[in-house]
Amino acid sequence: MRMRNKYRKLTTFHCNAGNICSTSVVVWSLVGCLLMFHLYTLVQPKDRLGGEIQVRVSHYPQFHELEQVEEENIQIPPKRKRPPHAAKRKLRRPTPLIDEFLDENSQIRHVFFPLKPDIDPMKDTGNDSYYYFPGRIWLDTDGNPIQAHGGGILFDKKSRTYYWYGEYKDGPTYHAHKKGAARLISTMDYGITAAVQVDIMGVGCYSSNDLWKWKNEGIVLAAEKENKTHDLHESNVLERPKVIYNEHTGKYVMWMHIDDANYTKASVGVAISDYPTGPFDYLHSQQPHGFDSRDMTIFKDDDGVAYLIYSSDHNNELHIGPLTEDYLHVTNIMRRIFVGQRREAPALFKHEGTYYMITSGCSGWAPNEALAHAAESIMGPWETMGTPCAGGNKVSRLTTFFAQSTFVLPVPGFPGSFIFMADRWNPADLRDSRYVWLPLIVGGTADRPLDYKFGFPLWSRVSIYWHRKWKLPQGWSGWKRI
Ligand SMILES: *[C@@H]1O[C@H](CO)[C@@H](O)[C@H](O)[C@H]1NC(C)=O
Ligand SMILES: *[C@@H]1O[C@H](CO)[C@@H](O)[C@H](O)[C@H]1NC(C)=O
Ligand SMILES: *[C@@H]1O[C@H](CO)[C@@H](O)[C@H](O)[C@H]1NC(C)=O
Repeated sequence: MRMRNKYRKLTTFHCNAGNICSTSVVVWSLVGCLLMFHLYTLVQPKDRLGGEIQVRVSHYPQFHELEQVEEENIQIPPKRKRPPHAAKRKLRRPTPLIDEFLDENSQIRHVFFPLKPDIDPMKDTGNDSYYYFPGRIWLDTDGNPIQAHGGGILFDKKSRTYYWYGEYKDGPTYHAHKKGAARLISTMDYGITAAVQVDIMGVGCYSSNDLWKWKNEGIVLAAEKENKTHDLHESNVLERPKVIYNEHTGKYVMWMHIDDANYTKASVGVAISDYPTGPFDYLHSQQPHGFDSRDMTIFKDDDGVAYLIYSSDHNNELHIGPLTEDYLHVTNIMRRIFVGQRREAPALFKHEGTYYMITSGCSGWAPNEALAHAAESIMGPWETMGTPCAGGNKVSRLTTFFAQSTFVLPVPGFPGSFIFMADRWNPADLRDSRYVWLPLIVGGTADRPLDYKFGFPLWSRVSIYWHRKWKLPQGWSGWKRI
C-alpha cells in the first residue's frame, strides 16, 4: 500500500539528543497516529470480509493480462490397481494429484512433464514466439534442453546481457542403493524413502538479450574428476549456484551449496572469474558463521552490500548476513529468521525499499507450498504473508505449481514486476527437471490479516499468477530499457 510510506514518516519521527521536541510536534504526531488508526479501521474490515479483496494497484496496463487469474482443471485418471506397497504408501500422501505427479508411470505424466511440443526459439514458432510455457522442455539456441537447474540470473551491465547460471545435470540419475544416501525424493509426509542424485557435472551458463533465446556458454565451473578430496569431485553435491558482480574488485563471484553425497558437509562454496562466462576458479568452502548450510542464495542490495541467506540448523531456520566487501567471505554479523519454520529455496527481491522473499517448505524433491515474506530491513524482522500463488487449481497452488522457488528477476523498466523462476524437479530423471517461470507482481494489500500485534505495517501483496502460456508485455525491450 502506498499509504504505508506516509505513515512511516509520521511514526518514525526522531528528536536529536539535546533538542527539546516542541509541543506542537508531539501534538501533530498524536493527531497523525489517530488519523492513521482511523484509516486502518476503515481498511481492516474489508480485509476480513472479503478474504480476498482484489486491489489492483498494478501500475502498468501492459501487465493487466498477466494478472488475470487463470484456472486450470487437471483430470485425475480413474483408480487403477497399484502394487501392494504403493497402496500402503497412498494412505500417507495428501492428494491424488501429488500422487500422480510423483508416480513415474502416471497416465497424466504428460501434464506435468510434456515431451512435445518443446520451446524451441530457433524454430519458426509463429504466434508462440517469446511465450513461456511453464513445464515444457526449453531448448537453447543449439537445440538442446537448457541445463541450468536451481539457477539464478545475472544482468551484466558491461555486456548488457543476461546470464543464467544453474546446475548442469545432463547425466544419469541413480538411486541410493548404488551410492551413499542422497537427497530424499520426499520426506515422511509422503512415506517414500528412495534417494536419488546426479554426479556433479558443473555449473552451466546461458546468455540472452531477451530472456527467451538462450545461448549455451558452456560449463563455467566444472566438476573435478580425479581428486576425490576436492569439493567439486563428481561424487559430491553442488546446488543452487548464484553469481553477482563486485564493482570494487571487478570479479564475478559465484556462491553455491557444496555438500557430500549424504548431505553432511552442509557448506557454501565460492568461485570467481574475470568474465561472466568464466571459467570460474574455485576458491574454498566453509560452514558460514560455523553453522550447517544447505539451500542458499545471495542477494546484492542497491548499496552494493551483498548478503548470504541459507537454511541452517538442519533446515529448521534460515540465517542471513552480509558478505565482506570483496564478496568472498561472510562477516561475523548474522541473524536467524523463520526459526522453527523449516523453510528452504530462498529467493530475495526488493521493491520500493521493502525486501521480499519467497521460500518453500522442506519435502525433498516433492513440491510444497511457497510462502512470501517481507521486511523493512534485510536483516529483519521478517514477516510471513502467506502463499503468493494465484490461479491454477487448489493443489497446484499448494505445490507452487508443482515447482520450487529458485530466483526472482526484476523486469527492467517495470518496477514491481518480476519473473518468478522455479524448478519442477523430476526425481525419476533429474536432468529432465523443468523450468516454471511465471509473472510475479508486487502491489495491493496482503490477502489475509497478518500476525502482527498492531496490524502494521500492511505489506504490499505479492502474487505469482499461473499461466499455461505467457510472455513479457509489449514495451519490454530487454536491455534497451536499462
Ligand atoms: C497465428 O494466429 C492466427 C490467428 O489466430 C492464425 O490464423 C495463424 O494461423 C497463426 N499462425 C501460426 C504460425 O500459428
Ligand atoms: C585435492 O584437493 C584438495 C582439496 O581441494 C587439495 O588440498 C589437494 O591439494 C588436491 N590434490 C591434488 C593432487 O591436486
Ligand atoms: C558421509 O559421506 C562422507 C564421504 O562422502 C563420509 O566420510 C561420512 O562418513 C558420511 N557420513 C555419514 C553420516 O554417513
